[in-house]
Amino acid sequence: MFKFAALSAFVALVPLLVNAQVAAYGQCGGQDWTGATACASGTACTKVNDYYYQCLPGSSGSSVSGGSGSGSTSAPSPTSTVPTSTSSASTAPSSTSTSSAASSDNPYTGYQIFLNPEYASEVQAAIPSITDSAVAAKALKVAEVPVFFWLDQVAKVPDLETYLAAADKQGKSSGQKQLLQIVVYDLPDRDCAANASNGEFSISDDGQAKYENYIDQIVAIVKKYPDVRVVAVVEPDSMGNLVTNMDLPKCSAAAPTYKTCINYAIAQLSSAGVYMYVDAGHAGWLGWPNNLAPAAQLFGELYETSGKSAYFRGLATNVANYNALNTSSPDPCTQNAPNYDEMLYINALSPLLQQQGFSAQFIVDQGRSGVQNIRNAWGDWCNIKGAGFGIRPTTDTGSPLIDSIVWVKPGGECDGTSNSSAPRYDSTCSLSDSLQPAPEAGTWFQQYFEALVTNAVPSL
Ligand SMILES: *[C@@H]1O[C@H](CO)[C@@H](O)[C@H](O)[C@H]1NC(C)=O
Ligand SMILES: *[C@@H]1O[C@H](CO)[C@@H](O)[C@H](O)[C@H]1NC(C)=O
Ligand SMILES: *[C@@H]1O[C@H](CO)[C@@H](O)[C@H](O)[C@H]1NC(C)=O
Repeated sequence: MFKFAALSAFVALVPLLVNAQVAAYGQCGGQDWTGATACASGTACTKVNDYYYQCLPGSSGSSVSGGSGSGSTSAPSPTSTVPTSTSSASTAPSSTSTSSAASSDNPYTGYQIFLNPEYASEVQAAIPSITDSAVAAKALKVAEVPVFFWLDQVAKVPDLETYLAAADKQGKSSGQKQLLQIVVYDLPDRDCAANASNGEFSISDDGQAKYENYIDQIVAIVKKYPDVRVVAVVEPDSMGNLVTNMDLPKCSAAAPTYKTCINYAIAQLSSAGVYMYVDAGHAGWLGWPNNLAPAAQLFGELYETSGKSAYFRGLATNVANYNALNTSSPDPCTQNAPNYDEMLYINALSPLLQQQGFSAQFIVDQGRSGVQNIRNAWGDWCNIKGAGFGIRPTTDTGSPLIDSIVWVKPGGECDGTSNSSAPRYDSTCSLSDSLQPAPEAGTWFQQYFEALVTNAVPSL
């Protein structure tokens, strides 16, 4: 997993020339904004939230200062409005649908989430070596929390069949419809901007065909169990890397293949009725003002090119990360970012997606977000010390844009090794805010799991 904030943060904080005109979709104001406030003709400076005003097309030339350099706490009202968060009506000219209509068919509604047997057995196996009986009792409760099943190698696909068969049986015996959560995560040249989670396929070794075969296997199995609903997070970090890391040769070389493969995955998984949320990084990555519009454009393109399937439900945020869903006190590591939590990020991204014709809904990972103020830098992502399990999965999300709070990352599985001689070593895993020594990514990290249990908020 790679969570890039440092470079994007730097870019976002470089003030624009004050006299320059801001191009369409650029930032033009917001609390503490010191850059240019005049929008290019054909666009108007429009409030997205108190911290972020943006030049949006559709209004004629007038511009509004978003509290530029004044340090004011409330920014002036804009001349035109974009929904700041939850409004069902968008003023964007191209928008024809509403988010409230979209949220009425939340795929989670009416279904029970099938517990991931792989994770439940990891947790069960972890209990005997916990010496503190109070911690052990809490740890046992984690086995009851639905966590996504990561199909991070093709060898795991047969387990999907085992789990679907079990979910199907449970659904039929209990009369309660079952929903199974998976992560589709096996792109060739995966994790192009980091080392810890590099995958099994490479583009130079027929990776695209191997990936398509991996998807075909998943599709064939899902089709055998039409009564079990499947929800998938699609390819963590991949689209984010295409937004911010195209300066890295491995990412720019992989970009066309990533796009082809993700389009293929969406089209094929749609044919099997799998509801999909494509990974959209997190607030500290694509949530930076300079990254929002390019991200929205890329997701809009993907929505088009993959066939505008209703099963491409939207985007997943904060996967395997630590950000708060909504907080009144920004974590110091967010450094005055306008979108310092996931709710703000989603509220800022949503209207831009609407403009691309994509009425995206969201799911948000809160599995390890229980404790804030634990990172030295927002971009730090590896086995952060002091983290705790967070809000339990629920469809009571506090936002009509968010279908469900989820636990995507199985807490206790390692983010990456701290062994500098290991082939997948990433130096991020040796930073002072990372728990060490840490084993290879994906393997069980007992000490980390126990800390997540102990530090859980709400407590277990
Ligand atoms: C966060 O959202 C929840 C659910 O809507 C709400 O109860 C809580 O007050 C919010 N907290 C903040 C700090 O906004
Ligand atoms: C670190 O990785 C190297 C190379 O894989 C291995 O030989 C060594 O035993 C590892 N060290 C530890 C402490 O795990
Ligand atoms: C990733 O691995 C490459 C090749 O071993 C190395 O040059 C680079 O520094 C590593 N990156 C990080 C962030 O550790």
